Amino acid sequence: MANDSDILIEIRNLKKTYREGSVETEALRGIDLSVKKGEYLGVVGKSGAGKTTLLNMIAGLDKVTEGEISVDGERIDKMNEVKKAIWRGQKVGFIFQSFQLLPGLSLLDNVMLPMDFCGKLNRHSHEKAAELLRMVGLIDHIHKIPSEISGGQQQRVAIARALANDPMVLLADEPTGRLDTATSEVVFDIFEQVVEKGTTMIIVSHDHSLAERTRRMIRLVDGKIS
Ligand SMILES: Nc1ncnc2c1ncn2[C@@H]1O[C@H](COP(=O)(O)OP(=O)(O)OP(=O)(O)O)[C@@H](O)[C@H]1O
Ligand SMILES: [Mg+2]
Repeated sequence: MANDSDILIEIRNLKKTYREGSVETEALRGIDLSVKKGEYLGVVGKSGAGKTTLLNMIAGLDKVTEGEISVDGERIDKMNEVKKAIWRGQKVGFIFQSFQLLPGLSLLDNVMLPMDFCGKLNRHSHEKAAELLRMVGLIDHIHKIPSEISGGQQQRVAIARALANDPMVLLADEPTGRLDTATSEVVFDIFEQVVEKGTTMIIVSHDHSLAERTRRMIRLVDGKIS
């Protein structure tokens, strides 16, 4: 058994039901999961299994229907929205399935945005953002806007942005979904470096071979861990 102090994320009987009018979708149906500090976890499952929903819950991006989530000793399910937004900005890096870059901002400004949001902008921010973009192979494009680069390049900007505030936990939703094999390798090498620095990392994918690059893998089936 892991020592309690080794646990970063503790999830107990987590349920999420989406309601649209009279239609209810039980996206998560009772998840129990502990993730240790520094762990590198893969979550696999078919489309609709609840993978994105689970990541959103851990990041506090959506309301929990039932159950508990603690991250680093803080109850995310009990936090108000303002506190959660600040907490998320400081502690969590999130690579969205749909990137969610700001279309009017340069790549450099997109990566600096989380620093600004957390009041961390300083004279080194520019250099740091450029360094992150160099790491993902985009140093020659930093002044372009997202519509001027490819989908795979946008995905790499999203990765750089997620690392902007040195997050305690990095959550990645299909981070290589739009990348060719060679670029996927580059991204996984970056994730390895991030994990080696002690960051806890969770990658979601419907692709088994991708999640196998992690150190532990769980499978979601219809909103439950199988
Ligand atoms: N905002 C929402 N409103 C209503 N239903 C939703 C919403 N988001 C997700 N769902 C439903 O919840 C279930 C789980 O969705 P989720 O996006 O977590 O799946 P996923 O495993 O990430 O799938 P994919 O591999 O296609 O990304 C699905 O049935 C989906 O239709
Ligand atoms: Mg998804």
